[in-house]
Amino acid sequence: MQVFLFVSILSSTILSIFPHLSFLYSHHSSHAATKKEVPSPLLGNCNHEAQEEQKSLDLKKFKKGHQKEPPQFKKPSRRTKNSRLLLVRELRWKSLKLIRVPEEVQESHNLKSSESKEDEEKIELPAIEEDDEDVELPPEECDLFTGQWVFDNETHPLYKEDECEFLTAQVTCMRNGRNDSLYQNWKWQPRDCSLPKFKPRLLLNKLRNKRLMFVGDSLNRNQWESMVCFVQSVIPPGRKSMNKTGSLSVFRIEDYNATVEFYWAPFLVESNSDDPNMHSILNRIIMPESIDKHGANWKNVDYLVFNTYIWWMNTVNMKVLRGSFDEGSAEYDEIERPVAYRRVLTTWSKWVEKNVDANRTTVFFSSMSPLHIKSSDWENPDGIKCAKETAPILNVSMEFDVGTDRRLFMVAANITGSMKLPVHFINITKLSEYRKDAHTSVYTIRQGKVLSPEQKADPATYADCIHWCLPGLPDTWNEFLYTRIISRT
Ligand SMILES: *[C@@H]1O[C@H](CO)[C@@H](O)[C@H](O)[C@H]1NC(C)=O
Ligand SMILES: *[C@@H]1O[C@H](CO)[C@@H](O)[C@H](O)[C@H]1NC(C)=O
Ligand SMILES: *[C@@H]1O[C@H](CO)[C@@H](O)[C@H](O)[C@H]1NC(C)=O
Ligand SMILES: *[C@@H]1O[C@H](CO)[C@@H](O)[C@H](O)[C@H]1NC(C)=O
Ligand SMILES: *[C@@H]1O[C@H](CO)[C@@H](O)[C@H](O)[C@H]1NC(C)=O
Ligand SMILES: *[C@@H]1O[C@H](CO)[C@@H](O)[C@H](O)[C@H]1NC(C)=O
Ligand SMILES: *[C@@H]1O[C@H](CO)[C@@H](O)[C@H](O)[C@H]1NC(C)=O
Ligand SMILES: *[C@@H]1O[C@H](CO)[C@@H](O)[C@H](O)[C@H]1NC(C)=O
Repeated sequence: MQVFLFVSILSSTILSIFPHLSFLYSHHSSHAATKKEVPSPLLGNCNHEAQEEQKSLDLKKFKKGHQKEPPQFKKPSRRTKNSRLLLVRELRWKSLKLIRVPEEVQESHNLKSSESKEDEEKIELPAIEEDDEDVELPPEECDLFTGQWVFDNETHPLYKEDECEFLTAQVTCMRNGRNDSLYQNWKWQPRDCSLPKFKPRLLLNKLRNKRLMFVGDSLNRNQWESMVCFVQSVIPPGRKSMNKTGSLSVFRIEDYNATVEFYWAPFLVESNSDDPNMHSILNRIIMPESIDKHGANWKNVDYLVFNTYIWWMNTVNMKVLRGSFDEGSAEYDEIERPVAYRRVLTTWSKWVEKNVDANRTTVFFSSMSPLHIKSSDWENPDGIKCAKETAPILNVSMEFDVGTDRRLFMVAANITGSMKLPVHFINITKLSEYRKDAHTSVYTIRQGKVLSPEQKADPATYADCIHWCLPGLPDTWNEFLYTRIISRT
């Protein structure tokens, strides 16, 4: 059993809280979000990333896998055999009115003595609430990804939409007019164990002096925004900041010297789609063996989370450049999607084996985030794409196929499972396929603006059934990361 004493907030040299600073970065982030939607001069008005990704999607279905008998769900016992207990001794600010903490208090684990020092110096120290609580970790070998969605409005959502100033307008569905909120209340319940209770400070303590980086496409960006909301909820205003520069967005938490970052690389390897703001690339071309330019930005990161999927889906074949973009090449060959995907992930895995120090860095790979484009896929003849869905698919014995390219899933599972360096395969695909209710649908933005009432009334054209509302499904994906990160000793 491990005992952690959290004195994190006391560790910085001077804790000065200037509430007015909290607004400093909101302009910055909304500016960057808007920029992403700027229409391309070449392609006119139709470049909203989601519409675009969706428009030309190849919805060709692949042979349905034969479904096994539905798993029997038993209520997991409070304490699973082999599970570990983390005793969390948390210190929580009751008030954020702290002005300054004298040097001698900062490293002190003894609160009583620090409080008496406070009195002498007449500095207001906030009341600190000690919160001793067990966090039960699931056994290492428990399959977290096989289970079911259960309604739980006591623990979910893990944060509130309007309490996370860093969410972009792309994902704030309630603010954008969605009037049903139950999609925020579903908890993923693994069949054989339970996900640990979410404690932001427990995660932050693991992230102290470290960098966590998401690398990939807009779905990984979706998950990154969720992670920012996770950790920022316990950080006072002015002690956190967002900096979006080019392909890299960095959320920084001063008092922990920690960053939660996102790096835009929709194919992981080099491609003509690498511009973080100009997304109107219908003729997508990749260089499957070129990764070093991007990889230079991933070095010395402590937690790396990769994904790549949605940008592969608009054509049956993938275009592979002959030569290099630097040499001005424009000729390409078309090769089958899974073949190209294997080449890219092989390049990626070699990069990881060569450049990642397993003693320092934990590597994750997220499987495909599914789409819900055709309501007949889940037997709702009255549906319009995902637009009218307000509940997940709860019948786990129902066979359905939303068009996920399982061939790419198999390639990713195979390559990540065959590497010398252990990679955590975050198997989100099936559990996310149940969540037809969780997409942004018409409660999102297009070209920087929330959809107009006329656009909202036309979901067949405008619903985004690729990205997800926040709070929402990507929070669960982060619960898997959280579980792995806090479990590491
Ligand atoms: C992924 O999870 C699903 C259940 O959500 C499971 O059926 C499948 O076998 C898993 N695949 C891998 C490769 O872990
Ligand atoms: C949670 O859901 C139950 C059952 O639907 C409802 O009675 C209760 O008011 C809800 N609580 C909250 C906090 O929304
Ligand atoms: C919620 O929105 C839907 C679709 O916009 C509408 O049909 C429904 O009447 C609304 N419900 C409420 C309670 O406002
Ligand atoms: C802050 O974090 C960075 C890595 O994110 C690390 O290199 C640096 O040493 C840390 N600074 C201190 C004072 O620990
Ligand atoms: C944001 O990051 C860039 C690149 O690292 C840097 O040049 C710039 O000064 C930073 N801006 C702020 C406001 O910190
Ligand atoms: C990682 O740690 C192990 C055990 O401490 C050590 O034997 C190994 O050399 C280290 N590897 C690297 C690349 O530092
Ligand atoms: C669940 O799905 C199965 C298979 O499609 C079906 O036979 C069964 O009736 C469904 N159960 C419910 C409660 O709808
Ligand atoms: C990956 O595929 C190769 C070749 O088909 C096979 O030998 C290997 O066992 C597979 N590895 C995993 C982890 O599935």
